[in-house]
Order: sequence, then C-alpha cells, then structure tokens
Amino acid sequence: MRWLYFAASALLPLAAHAQNVTGKWTGSASRYDNGIEITVALEQAAGGSITGYVEGPRSNDRITSGKLENGKLTLEAERAGRGGQMMHVTYTAEISGTKMTLTMPQMTFGGRAGGRGQQAPPRPPQVFELSRVSSKFPGPPPEPAPRVSLPMPEPVRTELARTPPMGWNSWNKFAGQVTDAMVREMADAIVSSGMRDAGYIYVNIDDTWEGAHRDSHGNITTNNKFPDMKKLADYIHSKGLKLGIYSSPGPKTCAGYLGSYQHEEQDAKTYAAWGIDYLKYDWCSAAQVYENNQATMAAAYAKMGLALLRSGRPIVYSLCQYGNLDVGEWGERVGGNLWRTTGDIRDDWQSMSHIGFDLQPGREKYAYPGHWNDPDMLEIGNGHMTDTEYQTHMTLWCILAAPLLAGNDIRSMSPSIAAILMNKELIAVDQDRLGRQGVRVAKDGDLEVWAKPLADGAYAVGLFNRGPAAARVTAKWSDIGISGSHPVRDLWKHEDLGSIAGSYSAEVPSHGVVAIKVAQ
Ligand code: GLA
Repeated sequence: MRWLYFAASALLPLAAHAQNVTGKWTGSASRYDNGIEITVALEQAAGGSITGYVEGPRSNDRITSGKLENGKLTLEAERAGRGGQMMHVTYTAEISGTKMTLTMPQMTFGGRAGGRGQQAPPRPPQVFELSRVSSKFPGPPPEPAPRVSLPMPEPVRTELARTPPMGWNSWNKFAGQVTDAMVREMADAIVSSGMRDAGYIYVNIDDTWEGAHRDSHGNITTNNKFPDMKKLADYIHSKGLKLGIYSSPGPKTCAGYLGSYQHEEQDAKTYAAWGIDYLKYDWCSAAQVYENNQATMAAAYAKMGLALLRSGRPIVYSLCQYGNLDVGEWGERVGGNLWRTTGDIRDDWQSMSHIGFDLQPGREKYAYPGHWNDPDMLEIGNGHMTDTEYQTHMTLWCILAAPLLAGNDIRSMSPSIAAILMNKELIAVDQDRLGRQGVRVAKDGDLEVWAKPLADGAYAVGLFNRGPAAARVTAKWSDIGISGSHPVRDLWKHEDLGSIAGSYSAEVPSHGVVAIKVAQ
C-alpha cells in the first residue's frame, strides 16, 4: 500500500497536492521574441519557500525567493548586469496543471544614460509559455566557464564610413517586433519620403532576427520573422539602399538571441554571402565570457573586425559597448567605424540631452573620417519629445558629427518630423568632409553654444537653451575663434541673415535651438 501511495503521488496531477512547483519547466517566448527558449528550475521546500534559477534568454538568473498563491507565482531573482553589477528582476507566472505562463519585464541594459524625470513607456514584457518536463529539481545550474583575457590585437584597418553613417534602425521604435515585411515597407518609405535622397542609406535590422540554434554546420540561422535574408538584401539593394544587421561578441545578444562567440569568421562570411553592408556588434553577454579589461575587449572586437575585412565585402563596423573602457582609444584599432559612447538613449528630453550635451565633450579627439563617436540612434518622431526638442536632438547630433540613424516609423512620419530629419543644411553639417566633431564653446547655466568647423572654413553653430523658459543666447565670434564680420545663415529658417560682426544673439525657446552657419 505504502509503495502504491508513493508511486501514485509521483504521478498525481499538481492539484491533488495543493500545488508544488518543483521541477524543470521549459518553453519559449510567445510574443515578440520568437525563437527564444527558457528553462525554469524550481525547488519548493516543505514550508513553501521557492528557490532555483532561470536559464536564458539573457543570462542565468538566480531565484532568491518565490511564493505561490492560488496558482500565481512570483519569483524574485538576481541577474549579473553587463558591467558585472547585480540587478534585480521579478518574474510573475500563472500556473495551470503542467503549464506555466511566465512574464519577464523587459529590461534595458547598458546603464541608463538619461537623468530623472519623464520616461518613455517601458517595452512590453516578454511572455513565455512553459511546460513542466520533470517534477524533479534538475540540480544546480551549470558553473560558468572562467572568463578569458586576451592581449591587445594587431591593428585592423578599413576605409569605410568617410562621413558618419546615415540610415534607419529598427530598435528604438520596434525592438523585438521587427520583421522582414516591416523592413521592406520601411525601405519603400525611406525612398518615397525622400529620406534616401537626403542620405539615409543604411536600413539596419537590430536585435531579434536570429534563430534559436545554429544549423548542423554551425551557420547562424534566422528565425521565422526573416525567412530569407539574401532575398531581403536583394530587395533593399534594388531600392538603392544598404542592409545592416546586428550581433554580439558574446554567446547571446542583449535580447537573448544567438551571438557570434566562437563563430566570428563564419558569421562574417554568412553576412557577406547575404549581402550585408553594416554590422552593429553589441557586447551584452560577452561580459560573461571575457574579462573586463581594455585589451580583452579590443581583442574580442578585433576578431570580428578582421573577419569582416576577410569576408571580402565592405561592411561598416559599429561597436556597441556603451562607451566603456575608453573605447575611443582603441575603437579604430579593431576596425570600428563608429562606437557607442553611452548606455541606451530613450525617447525623452532628459536622456537625449544628457547624452548629447553632457556625455560627449572630451570625445571629439577620436572622431575623424572613418571613425565616429556614436551618441546612439535618433529618437526623432517617436512621440515623447516636442518638435522643438527633436530639432535640438537633430542639431546637436549633426554638430557632433554623429551617425544619423533614424529610429522612428518612417511609414507614418508627420511632415514636421520629415522636415526635421531631412533638414538638408544640417545634414550637410553632419556629413561635412572635414569630419571634425563640434565642441561646446560657451556655457552659461542652461544656455550653451556649440560650434563645428567645416571644410570650407565656415562654422556650424548651435545656440541651445536647456532651461525651462525662453532665453536670449549669444554666440560670440571670439568663442568660436574668429573675428570681424561674417555672413550668417539660419539653418532651420533656411534664410541668409546678412553679414554680422562680433556675435549673434537670438531668442531661443525652452529646450530649443537656433542653428546658424557662420561663413569664412
Ligand atoms: C542594447 C543596445 C541597443 C539595442 C539592444 C538590442 O541595449 O545598446 O541599442 O541594440 O541592445 O537588444
């Protein structure tokens, strides 16, 4: 009898046992991030307390505590962040028999660059549908392999991106929702809106295009959102545009998809065969396999830099490691054409203005043709800043000689957003062949004057007002390093203002800018 009781209890459905969730649960994401698989290992003690771990998609999270009430499970977990710091994440789940629907809040990695204040709405959470594959706790999670250190690489040189790359990227607006069909529609809209002719050439797929597994030869695969990357590239090229893609030097990308770790040469060849023209390479889980020092990070990036070079196809190389470990000092050496300088931008004034105004000064010495500081992609048109603030965003990025990667939905862009993104006079400032990054030349509280020297001897000058009320801002010629009278043109009004001596003053709205070109 006793034996029978035990045998039966092992097989009995959960309900008869007032629910014990111990065991191994596996499944995959049901919403945007198709292809992502997850394992949840739970151990429920007699007193009801729950511990265990979650494997993937982003990292292994250790469950520190959990509780189950009426089929609703809450799991508190710890995750190692990209810089090695511990972060806290709360999972919630609904359990019904051997099925679990698990919700994980979307987290943005890379350290917040923005300040306090109004925030863009959080991304929709990831939802996973899991099944219980065993009612035994599978044992402790696998020990991570020791992280490796690498020596500083030999220089890798490319001749690409003589001016800051321009185009569109899927992440800021669409995150995991990007699909082949959307990319095609965006390319069509980039052409019909005039964006292509204004210079926005690269159409870049960010994270979440990758399949769950490599094929039997170790080749990277796409998930079902991208049925045929080569065909997509052919389509993009037929429109006079170029196609960009995304990966990581680590085993997984930031959204938990396959990265290029130990497949760098192979992936570069695959990209070249597909017809890829641009790669954004995002550190993410590389923090789990590489030591956190300059030589090692540079070597990890150089592996791909060299692989791209050897692929035989010109592929612009965009480093994304959030500006850590003085990337400006070695970004060029690893073949990088641009490198992020900060954590992720958000579509709000605090984030954009903090990244643009506060975190760029000092980096100008690293920018020149082929090598650009990247203050992150544009948020213009994503809805959480005013048009005045978006004008500031555009002007500042152009003065910074920043890559201009629109991050909005081009298909439904309003005329005022189109006018901001396609201000040709400002684009000319960004794309100026001298390739110098502008600098702040004066600051008086919230009022700042920035200037960028141009190839024809002129200066592009921004009179910015970061304050809460309109104010008069003065750009003194002496601050720019010139004297006498100079022809001045307003780059937003597209008007010549005549020859002006000594300085130029203008009323600037709160969070706004007046942009001028001061000719030689
Ligand atoms: C990081 C990057 C972002 C984006 C996401 C994708 O957070 O900084 O720009 O690429 O990863 O997961």
